[in-house]
Amino acid sequence: MLAKSVRNKFAEHELICTDVEELDITDLDAVLNAVNKISPNYIINCAAYTAVDKAEDNYELASKINGIGVKNLAIASNSVGAVLIHISTDYVFSGNLDLNKEYVETDETNPVTVYGRTKLEGEMEIKKNTDKYYIFRTAWLYGDGNNFVRTMLKLGSNKEEINVVSDQYGSPTNADDLANIIKQAIDKKIPYGTYHTTNLGFTNWYEFTKKIFEIANISCKVNPVTTEKYIEMMNIKQAKRPKNSKLSKEKILSQGIEIPTWEDGLKRYLNIELNKD
Ligand SMILES: NC(=O)c1ccc[n+]([C@@H]2O[C@H](COP(=O)([O-])OP(=O)(O)OC[C@H]3O[C@@H](n4cnc5c(N)ncnc54)[C@H](OP(=O)(O)O)[C@@H]3O)[C@@H](O)[C@H]2O)c1
Repeated sequence: MLAKSVRNKFAEHELICTDVEELDITDLDAVLNAVNKISPNYIINCAAYTAVDKAEDNYELASKINGIGVKNLAIASNSVGAVLIHISTDYVFSGNLDLNKEYVETDETNPVTVYGRTKLEGEMEIKKNTDKYYIFRTAWLYGDGNNFVRTMLKLGSNKEEINVVSDQYGSPTNADDLANIIKQAIDKKIPYGTYHTTNLGFTNWYEFTKKIFEIANISCKVNPVTTEKYIEMMNIKQAKRPKNSKLSKEKILSQGIEIPTWEDGLKRYLNIELNKD
């Protein structure tokens, strides 16, 4: 999903994109060969194992992609002096932080899911294997691919009412806006390190859904439910979701990077999404 936004954002640059068939990041020799051949200035890693619930029973595969794969990219970046740009997640935190507080980059990580653990492994491998890196932690991403907004648009058009969780807080993030943050970070040559990069402002999934329906003019009723109630009603087993995914953007904003609000990001996304053929 993010890869498509990055590809569009960097269309005017000399950009070489690969997918898993062309380059499996878990294969160190293949990664070294590809990187040595191209000798890029920047490597933007959008690849990951992102199935949060499935990861609970697939630690080895998730760790291979999110940990070892990222280690391979860090080793290869370092070998040619390239800057590694990597995307991480709010799931590196427990999500148990007081709801009136926001996570800052230096807060202690403490993932409570397999996905979060493996994404943290990736962050640690980068720090061990190269100095020239950006780790951009994001959250609640939507773009050109399966995502929450598309799911809600579909549900809202087919149902009269739906139940949506109202006790998890974060920042919905337009993948195009994240790609633009990456571009600005490169252009401005901000200091290497870890940054929290979501759209600005915070909401919960219930309010987010109401805003989607309001903009899209969908009349479906939205009922707020707690996470516990939702799991019970849907009779599902899922990985623990963070209650607090609020990432402070103070550090990245202090570098002069411009970031739109989540409402603005959503309006632009829906404008494209609702006007497709
Ligand atoms: N989506 C979110 O809400 C969210 C939130 C926070 C952070 N993030 C992070 O943001 C980044 C982008 O997420 P996304 O939602 O755009 O992910 P995505 O749509 O799931 O894309 C991940 C891509 O990685 C590819 N991939 C998997 N294993 C690979 C391998 N061994 N070698 C090469 N490519 C491989 C996948 O290919 P296949 O499809 O063929 O498997 C897929 O195209 C990820 O790092 C994710 O952890 C996402």
